[in-house]
Amino acid sequence: MLSHSRAPFPRERSRDAIRMEIVRTIDWMKQVGHDARVKERVLGLVPTMGALHEGHLSLIREAQMQCSPVVVSIFVNPKQFGPSEDFQKYPRTFESDCAALEKLRVDYLFAPSPSEIYPPNFRTAVSVEGLSDRLEGRSRPGHFRGVTTVVLKLFEIVRPRFAFFGRKDAQQARIIHQMATDLNLDTNVVVCPIVRDVDGLALSSRNAYLKKDERQVAVALYRSLEAARREVESGERDPARILAALRRVIDAEPHIALEYAQIVDAETLEPSMNLNRPSYALIAARVGATRLIDNALIEPEGARFNVTI
Ligand code: PAJ
Repeated sequence: MLSHSRAPFPRERSRDAIRMEIVRTIDWMKQVGHDARVKERVLGLVPTMGALHEGHLSLIREAQMQCSPVVVSIFVNPKQFGPSEDFQKYPRTFESDCAALEKLRVDYLFAPSPSEIYPPNFRTAVSVEGLSDRLEGRSRPGHFRGVTTVVLKLFEIVRPRFAFFGRKDAQQARIIHQMATDLNLDTNVVVCPIVRDVDGLALSSRNAYLKKDERQVAVALYRSLEAARREVESGERDPARILAALRRVIDAEPHIALEYAQIVDAETLEPSMNLNRPSYALIAARVGATRLIDNALIEPEGARFNVTI
């Protein structure tokens, strides 16, 4: 029998054989993006710092629904960590990240080195004024400047039609959306819901730092946001009273140190006065040595807007 008369591989088998490509250089990544655009394919980008969990994977699945090919980037961006922050010890789990991405059949992993992204003569920074100074920006000076600088670089290198971010980092998503608007970027910013553990704790790469007892305590962040949400649902519109309900949950937990809790307008990120527009309840707290953030989108009845940012 001639070999070509044999039954071909089933479709799934041949798809399995297509492995994710790991791209290490900017030139190569630009080429991949260019080739995709020439073929009129809809390129999607999911920027991450690795240590992937279900939160990241949910963004990738959403990207795969809307785009092909999908590029995931893993780059622990030194510019968004303060001098006393956890850049050195930030979890790096490249092997298992690759396995998770292969399993999802991601097309490309962009994993550049720090010197590829920031050569020694690198001098530029991108900053979104105002939105970057408050909340996380106040607690972590320079953080968002580092985020927007690297994200703009990633957008320029990949030039995706869509880029996917999590509402877990609501302020970050808002700032990146503003940057894309202000600079007329061709990339549409898509913001996806928060993925939580079964008890409600928002998934985060930094949860890996939590000791067993701290992990149990940390769920109080979520419970405090739920308390705030219940206040709103029961008709409360005074942010001070809603925040008081939130704080009562945190204050009852001696092992949590609250850094900030605020209710802000979802667009301006300025303190909400009366909740007649979509707002976020945002919280940052330390559990032991680990700093965690979480938030809840609050949309009072009668003020339903389509919050895409
Ligand atoms: P990282 O913390 O790795 O997060 C990558 C993306 O995953 C972000 O858009 C973040 O909001 C989203 N994400 C994290 N936890 C999530 C959860 N529980 N549910 C849904 N989405 C979640 O954020 C960064 O990296 C960096 O600042 C980056 C944008 C990559 C720039 O360096």
